Amino acid sequence: MKDTIYQSNDAQQGKVTPFEFNEEVVRVFDDMISRSVPGYRASIELAMVLAAEICQPNDHIYDLGCSLGAATFALLNQKALPQLHITGIDKSIPMLHGFQKIMQSQGHKPTTDSLPLHYESINHQQHVLDLEEADLVTMAFKPSKLVLLNYVLQFIKVEQRAALLTDIHKALQPGGVLLLSEKIICENQEHHAFIDKLHLRFKSLQGYSELEIAGKRSAIENVLIPETYEAHEKRLKEAGFSQVIPVLTHLNFMTILAVK
Ligand SMILES: C[S@@+](CC[C@H](N)C(=O)[O-])C[C@H]1O[C@@H](n2cnc3c(N)ncnc32)[C@H](O)[C@@H]1O
Repeated sequence: MKDTIYQSNDAQQGKVTPFEFNEEVVRVFDDMISRSVPGYRASIELAMVLAAEICQPNDHIYDLGCSLGAATFALLNQKALPQLHITGIDKSIPMLHGFQKIMQSQGHKPTTDSLPLHYESINHQQHVLDLEEADLVTMAFKPSKLVLLNYVLQFIKVEQRAALLTDIHKALQPGGVLLLSEKIICENQEHHAFIDKLHLRFKSLQGYSELEIAGKRSAIENVLIPETYEAHEKRLKEAGFSQVIPVLTHLNFMTILAVK
């Protein structure tokens, strides 16, 4: 469904409420993220490539802040991957219900009636999927080979980010990888201003009006806090990651691999 959230009268009168992952957003989320985040599809492809490269049968993968499961579905539908156990975590119930609906529309039935949902024998590889409601900041992590944190850290309070990355590092098995995608800012103010302008142009070419762009921008301010690549690199190294590799940059969005 097309994202028209910031075409409303409220947005026109400059009355926007802070952005939330609520039912209204869930309805248009696919359209919103693909028209707002340059490189979004490529980041999902990277999750697939990485899983194909490092995962063995029965490995566990986290899709943290899974939303409607774009990354999880890419893995579930990739025939070349071995049998996997994926756990999707989100703290937005509307998102998890949206994910559940998509599973249902593909003919998958959970073995449980309510959250946490457990699915078995998905597709011919017989993947296992758990969908759980949790706050990443307080949850306990299971051992994992791959952790996907795709455009999520930016919504977590800056002072809570180091502890979360340390927890993820601890949960990763030897050779395990964190795939981190984020909106970023540039240290150089001039570069930042130019890239920011290009991002606005990207959105307008995706069909968003100036009013919609301004409405979304004001709603997301103070909710999504981007940092520089340098700040991410430093924090990942301090969390214990031995290699931090930027693998994708498209305007002000980046995907980074952090290897245990
Ligand atoms: C931009 S979306 C992520 C997109 C998704 N990873 C993808 O690739 O399509 C951010 C998601 O993170 C979730 N989220 C934000 N903070 C969270 C937290 N502290 N714990 C769990 N989920 C969180 C939101 O509810 C939302 O669904």
